[in-house]
Amino acid sequence: MIRVRTGLGAAALAAITVLGVAALPNGAAVAGDTGLRGAARGTGVKIGTAVDMNALANDAAYKEAVAAEFNTVTPENVMKWSEVEPTQGTYNWGPADDLINFARRNGQAVRGHTLVWHSQLPSWINETDFTKAQLRDLLRRHIFAEAGHFKGKIWAWDVVNEPLNEDGTLRDTIWLRALGPGYIADAFRWAHQADPSAILFINDYNAEWLSPKTDAYYQLVKDLRHQGVPVQGFGMQGHLGIQYGLPGDVLENVRRFDALGVKTAFTEVDVRMILPTDQYRTQAQAEGFGLMLRACLLVKNCISYTVWGFTDKYNWVPGVFAGEGSATPMDEQLQPKPAYDTLRETFLLAR
Ligand code: XIL
Repeated sequence: MIRVRTGLGAAALAAITVLGVAALPNGAAVAGDTGLRGAARGTGVKIGTAVDMNALANDAAYKEAVAAEFNTVTPENVMKWSEVEPTQGTYNWGPADDLINFARRNGQAVRGHTLVWHSQLPSWINETDFTKAQLRDLLRRHIFAEAGHFKGKIWAWDVVNEPLNEDGTLRDTIWLRALGPGYIADAFRWAHQADPSAILFINDYNAEWLSPKTDAYYQLVKDLRHQGVPVQGFGMQGHLGIQYGLPGDVLENVRRFDALGVKTAFTEVDVRMILPTDQYRTQAQAEGFGLMLRACLLVKNCISYTVWGFTDKYNWVPGVFAGEGSATPMDEQLQPKPAYDTLRETFLLAR
């Protein structure tokens, strides 16, 4: 039976009438559910993208695609500390507020990214000789200022980003040095006080498969929750490269966090490759995107799957990984790649 959803266009209705249901390919049987967000409807998993605010302001096709394809958005940069407080005490909320307003107009949930990180800190933090007590106070004030400013408007916060090393030990950061290992618990408590309704995530890369790093996350999340610390989600960034192979045990990993009772999410998915791209690499990429989405759809508590940019037209990979790229589901002309089709079909199978 065709499940006709809202927004079914006249042309699509005509097509159904003329061709008959049996003649329609699978995708068309749910006409009106255009875009990935339509395909995701009813699955319990939101589909998101990181948003480049310059592209959103200047590229109409990009803007249209963000609205049409996604039901959650994450600011790629504009909520990071370096962006919101470039000069001490002078806040710049404008670009992030713009995204919040865009999301509201388009019925999208916002993932806040990120409150505590060792990277993209304002230069005044690194350049000033703050005491440990001052740094603790700065971090606390930052969390209250930012989570407070967006209170009630953020669906989920990446409270602490990338706090662990590959071997599972705590990363040596300005925050660990100043506040000690308790900074993670403190950050979650402060964020929860500042915005009690946001779902609070700890988030990292190389967090998709079974490893010393994810074993340590499992233990950390378990311990924090036993202590009553409001860690409510485990975010796996999902930055893959096909040259490293795909994480075949991602489902097993997500399942163990699911069993802990925390939410999970894929928060920054992209699948890069050594250029040039070819049909085999493109296919492996599609499998990488699909593998992580299936894992998310197959557990109860995985609530979103966000790509870190949806078009190669605006993408961080070529600037960071020399010789690599083509990491997103759409090419530079915003044309879908096999990865896009895999995401769409995987969602449709799950509804
Ligand atoms: C990246 C952005 O995409 C770039 O534009 C920026 O120059 C650097 O940061 N993990 C994260 C993201 O948590 O915030 C990073 O985003 C990518 C890696």
